[in-house]
Amino acid sequence: MTSTEELRDRVAAQLTRARARSVALTDAVDDDDLVRQHSKLMSPLVWDLAHIGNQEELWLVRDVGGREPVRADIDELYDAFKHARAVRPELPLLGPAEARRYVGEVRDKVFDVLERVPLEGDRLVDGGFAFGMIVQHEQQHDETMLATHQLRVGPPVLHAPPPPAGGPVGPAEVLVPGGPFTMGTSTEAWALDNERPAHQAFTRPFFIDTAPVTNRAYAEFIADGGYTDPRWWSEAGWAHARKASLEAPRFWLREGDRWYRQAFGAVAPLVDDQPVVHVCYYEAEAYARWAGKRLPTEVEWEKAARFDPATGRSRRYPWGDEEPTEAHANLGQRHLSPAPVGAYPAGASPLGVHQLIGDVWEWTSSDFHGYTGFEVFPYAEYSQVFFGSDYKVLRGGSFGTDPAAVRATFRNWDFPIRRQIFAGFRCARDAAPQELA
Ligand SMILES: [Fe+2]
Repeated sequence: MTSTEELRDRVAAQLTRARARSVALTDAVDDDDLVRQHSKLMSPLVWDLAHIGNQEELWLVRDVGGREPVRADIDELYDAFKHARAVRPELPLLGPAEARRYVGEVRDKVFDVLERVPLEGDRLVDGGFAFGMIVQHEQQHDETMLATHQLRVGPPVLHAPPPPAGGPVGPAEVLVPGGPFTMGTSTEAWALDNERPAHQAFTRPFFIDTAPVTNRAYAEFIADGGYTDPRWWSEAGWAHARKASLEAPRFWLREGDRWYRQAFGAVAPLVDDQPVVHVCYYEAEAYARWAGKRLPTEVEWEKAARFDPATGRSRRYPWGDEEPTEAHANLGQRHLSPAPVGAYPAGASPLGVHQLIGDVWEWTSSDFHGYTGFEVFPYAEYSQVFFGSDYKVLRGGSFGTDPAAVRATFRNWDFPIRRQIFAGFRCARDAAPQELA
C-alpha cells in the first residue's frame, strides 16, 4: 500500500470515528431535546450537528473538492460568528431529520473528494491537513455537545464504564529544570495555526504538581473558607465570584457535611481522588494562592509535558511520540468523568508528571497569543481573532476530548469565568535557590 493510500485510509477512519461520536451524542435524545436550548451558553444540539456538516461542506466539498455547494442557502445560519449561541434556537434551523440528511449528503461527497484529490502539492491538503482540520472541528463540537449533555436536565441518557482505578504517583511536585526547550511544532501535519511554529522557549526552574488538583484538595479549600476570603482572589476574580455567587465548583451539591456531584443526569458522592472539574480560571487562581502556589504559565505546562532532559528533545506527547492509547490517557469520552490520580502511569512525562493529557483541561495563567512567527492558516477565525487578554489558555484535553483533537502542543482558550467546560488545573511554584542543590 502506498503511503498516500494509507493516509486516505487514516483520514477516512478518523472522519468515520468522529461521525460515530456525533451520532451517538445526538441519537441519545429525542427531537424535542435536540432543538431545545439547554443553557444560554450552548447551542441546541441540532445546530452543532448541521454546523459540523456546513464547515465540512465549505472546506472539503467546495474548497478542496472544487464542487458545487450542497446547501449554499444555509451558510449564514451556521456561521458561528453571525449568531451568538443564545439566539441560535430562534433561527430557522434545519430540523433533526433534515440536519441528519444534510450531514450525510456532505459526507458522501467528502469521501468522493478524498478518493480523487492529491494529498500533496498544496499547503491546504499536504498530509491531509484540511481533512484533519475538519476531523478536529467535528471532535471539538462533540466535546461541546458533551458539555451540553452535562447541562441538560433529565434522566441519564449517556452511559460509559467507570475510569480505571488510581494509584501512586510519587512526590506531590516535580522539579522542572530551567533553560530552553522547543515549544510548538512545525512538523505535526494536523497541528493548527496557533501551535506553530516550533520555537525556542525558556523557563526558570520551577515545581509543578505531579497530578491535577483533586476533589479532596479542592474541598479543603472550600472548608477553609476559600470562597469567602478575598486574600486568595485576584481583584477581577473576587468581583466575579461575588457577582456570580460562587461557592463551589459548578455541579457540586452539598448534603449535610458531604459533597455530591451531578454529572450527565446522575448525582453521586464526590470521588475524592478524581481531579476537580468545572472550575473557572478565577477559582483555579484562588485555590493556587491559598495553597501557596500559582498556576503554571503555558510555557511551563508545555515544558513539563514534552521536555525530555535525557535527550533535550520535545516529545509529541508526555509518554513519547506514539498516538494515545487507552493505557496513556483518559480521552475520547470512553469514560464520562476524570480518572483518579495515578490511573495512567504509562502516560507520565519523562520528568514524572502525570495525567497532563486527558481527564481535565488545565487552566494556565497565560493569555492567548500567537507565537513569534505565527501565520494565519487557513482562516483568521480559527484562532487569530481570539488573540488578546480576554482569554486564558487551557492545555491537555479532557475525558471528553478525542485523541485526534489534542496533543502536547494543542492550545485551547476560553473566558476566565467559564465553568461548563471540562476544566480543572494543577499548580506550580518557583523553585527557591536552596531547592536546586
Ligand atoms: Fe465550529
